[in-house]
Amino acid sequence: MAENILKCFPHTTSPFIASAPMFGFSDAGLATAVTKAGGFGFIGGGFLFQTGSSQLTALDTQLTNARSILGLTDEQPLPLGVGLITFQPDGLIENVIPILQKHRVAAIWLSFPQAEADHLPIIRAIRQTQRVSGWETRIFSQVGNIAAAKEAIQQKVDGLVIQGTDAGGHQWAQGASLISLLPEVRDLLLETGNTTTAVLAAGGIVDGRGCVAALGLGADGIVMGTRFVATSECPAPSEIKQTILSTTDGGVSTVKTTRHDVFQSTDVFPRRYDGRAVVGMNYRDSEEGVSDEEIIRRHNEARAAGDDRRRTVWAGTSVGSIKAVVPVEDLIKTTQQEVRAILERVKAGL
Ligand SMILES: Cc1cc2nc3c(=O)[nH]c(=O)nc-3n(C[C@H](O)[C@H](O)[C@H](O)COP(=O)(O)O)c2cc1C
Repeated sequence: MAENILKCFPHTTSPFIASAPMFGFSDAGLATAVTKAGGFGFIGGGFLFQTGSSQLTALDTQLTNARSILGLTDEQPLPLGVGLITFQPDGLIENVIPILQKHRVAAIWLSFPQAEADHLPIIRAIRQTQRVSGWETRIFSQVGNIAAAKEAIQQKVDGLVIQGTDAGGHQWAQGASLISLLPEVRDLLLETGNTTTAVLAAGGIVDGRGCVAALGLGADGIVMGTRFVATSECPAPSEIKQTILSTTDGGVSTVKTTRHDVFQSTDVFPRRYDGRAVVGMNYRDSEEGVSDEEIIRRHNEARAAGDDRRRTVWAGTSVGSIKAVVPVEDLIKTTQQEVRAILERVKAGL
């Protein structure tokens, strides 16, 4: 699919820009706005898939909403994707794949398995469903190191999302920035004559400059997460958007650690993952020696009182370059225009 990523998703324009499936933030409104603007929107599909999970009904509702926003009939495929967090895969095959097939989503993004091998039965089940139903969908795996990339390639995914450690949100505890990861992945594909697996870059990209860099390093397209949080269509609370706008110097003002999840009682990710978020009151308390129990108590007390100041703000290291909340269409068009202008300028200078 590599050279053809734009052809695989015919509504997309060049260069290929996707919005990350940020669970709780990437809803039908955000994803359809991205898709309508010529990008590729992903909806965050969640991480609890057992029968009876409210995340299953929420996903079905989001996809129905997306269908209605885009004015599609029940028969027409949905030109957007769904991201699934896979470290608790119980129920995923039986309960989620039928929902995705019913809506004929154009792409599925898998991330954060306990072990890479856990994706194989999921991928096989999707392929089997495709064979019997004629459903066209592309499978992406988000990976943060070369070993994981190799395994995803062997599992014959259609695309890799290479996630560098500048990324906002959860990620590999041990990884590298895109500048190291992307060329090694591209070489791996070249050495094996693989021209079909698409490569998307994620982590610290917020504008055309980052996009040009990623394309230069070997990506076929890019994914932005934090940048899409600060858009008019993202349902994130305005306090989160304001924190993103007011935060500068992301290498210092964000931190990559498992501690964010401890403080907000969401410490369920396997130990090979951590997360990058803005350094906030909880983290500062911890640095000053306050116990975890006391921080959790303060966090819960603030939440119960409707005080959002202790809320985790997941954000990447490029947060300092995000200066305004903008409509999705402006973000995508401006980024694409910047890419063309930068490339022309660079070419003229050679
Ligand atoms: C608020 C937020 C929530 C995220 N949630 C998810 C998620 O549910 N699933 C997932 O695969 N990645 C998630 N990520 C990571 C993104 O997929 C992506 O790797 C990251 O946003 C790229 O870095 P950037 O934020 O610097 O653009 C999240 C990132 C952010 C910022």
